[in-house]
Amino acid sequence: MIYQLRTKAAKRLKAIRQGWKEDFYREIRDIAEHPVVLRMKRYPHHGSTNCYQHCINVAYYNYQWCRFFHLDARSAARAGMLHDLFLYDWHTHARKTGDHFHGMTHPGCACRNAKKLFRLNRVEEDVILHHMWPVTLLSLPRTREGWITTITDKYCGACETSRRK
Ligand SMILES: [Fe+2]
Ligand SMILES: [Fe+2]
Repeated sequence: MIYQLRTKAAKRLKAIRQGWKEDFYREIRDIAEHPVVLRMKRYPHHGSTNCYQHCINVAYYNYQWCRFFHLDARSAARAGMLHDLFLYDWHTHARKTGDHFHGMTHPGCACRNAKKLFRLNRVEEDVILHHMWPVTLLSLPRTREGWITTITDKYCGACETSRRK
């Protein structure tokens, strides 16, 4: 009896997760398929993961967490997809440009680039601008979606860095 209930619950959970995956992609599709956003695939990010894949990962966890907590999952996912839209290889950026503060400057750069392509709402702008906290010190997130992104970004970064090729 307990086994049957557990199997039924597992099947139901699997169906919900599959539905959420489809909803997630529908919400970010126009961003994920934009030619400028696709250019993030050219740049390595953490370990063997490129910048585009990292952004998809963050967007996906943002969507799941925010939907679970009844927050603005759509905005969190869309901003997750754009949060690192700086379009350069950060590993060689300081040597090439003299900007030694990529960790602090790239959220602003990503936000400016994102605004050229998409209209951002208050939550989306907050997620992008403050995702690097606490690196950005006094520049704290102002929304719950922004705080969640400070966690999902670091979680995804750690998983990607530790993953074998
Ligand atoms: Fe970032
Ligand atoms: Fe990131």
